[in-house]
Amino acid sequence: MLIENDISLESYNTFGINVLAKRFVSVNTIDELIAVLKLKKNSKIVVLGGGSNILLTEDVKALVIHINLKGKEIVSKTASTVTVKVKAGENWHDFVLWCLQYDYGGLENLSLIPGNVGTSPIQNIGAYGVELKDHFVSCEAINLETLALETFSNKDCNFGYRNSIFKQEAKGKYIITSVNLKLSSKNHILRTNYGSIQEELNLMGIDKPTIQNIANVVIKIRESKLPNPKEIGNSGSFFKNPIISKTQFKSLEKKFPDMPNYEVSQEKVKIPAGWLIEKVGFKGKTFNNYGVHKKQALVLVNYGGAKGEDILKLAKLIQETIYRIFAISIETEVNLL
Ligand code: EPU
Repeated sequence: MLIENDISLESYNTFGINVLAKRFVSVNTIDELIAVLKLKKNSKIVVLGGGSNILLTEDVKALVIHINLKGKEIVSKTASTVTVKVKAGENWHDFVLWCLQYDYGGLENLSLIPGNVGTSPIQNIGAYGVELKDHFVSCEAINLETLALETFSNKDCNFGYRNSIFKQEAKGKYIITSVNLKLSSKNHILRTNYGSIQEELNLMGIDKPTIQNIANVVIKIRESKLPNPKEIGNSGSFFKNPIISKTQFKSLEKKFPDMPNYEVSQEKVKIPAGWLIEKVGFKGKTFNNYGVHKKQALVLVNYGGAKGEDILKLAKLIQETIYRIFAISIETEVNLL
């Protein structure tokens, strides 16, 4: 374990922003992590997982700890389920592929989501009708105050739409070291009714899909809409879809009759931020080396060499424009640093 100085973070964030970490360490075991935390007790740290949900806007002065904890093991089984303990530094999509290889079902709709397993509970990753919370059993996390490992059950995590305790009262107080997920080993429950999954399966002539078929369809849909961070820097959805009152929606609908909406409760609806951004004319807009993705307005992109602060300015301009036109505040999904 080596603490290094002035390390470029370009390859550690999927936006591909080139800022420096004044001090940087990559930890491979929990013991190493605890040793670093003991050394740095009471000083500021920045924890980096897969770097897929962060916009770096300046050099990082605090010590950056890169979580490189690897490994997965089956911790329990029933006749039709397995519970797998996965270390935080495992790449999420590689883990989904591992599940498919052993025919463990549940995560196929979450194929190709960038980032690591350890950060997946923080924002309760979700796509195509499935959220992490549907398979999450528990996670272990180091309490930064006591340096003890604590276990959080599904209930403890208080999961919501792109939300959990780790974005609320536990924010900045824990480092997640592993996650336990419960998957099906037979009689898989297939979720095909979200978006165009069923349509794609029909087009492919598949009437009895396997979990691998569903993963393939999700990968195909994501690849057609979302830029591959290895080719174009990005952090997936930059904004969350806003939730507004039905009263506000009813009055907006008079002016914008084509506004899509999804009911979330008796009083509230969710509006796709991508639609709002497209409606105000930002979709596909390019400013020098950054902009709004051409195929999905929810995604901001770095075409190479962009500065985090420029992308942040663009994000603010989009937020202000949407507020001016719709009186809707859209929040960033990506963490800003
Ligand atoms: N839309 C537009 N213009 C756009 C993009 C979207 O009009 O440029 C409209 C679409 O026509 C559709 C609606 O917005 O009516 C919803 O679009 P889509 O189904 O593509 O989903 P989304 O709301 O844009 C959410 C997640 C994605 C996830 C997809 C699929 C959020 C913030 N984003 O996107 O998550 O993959 O659903 O489940 O909830 C991520 O978190 O990084 C991410 C990509």
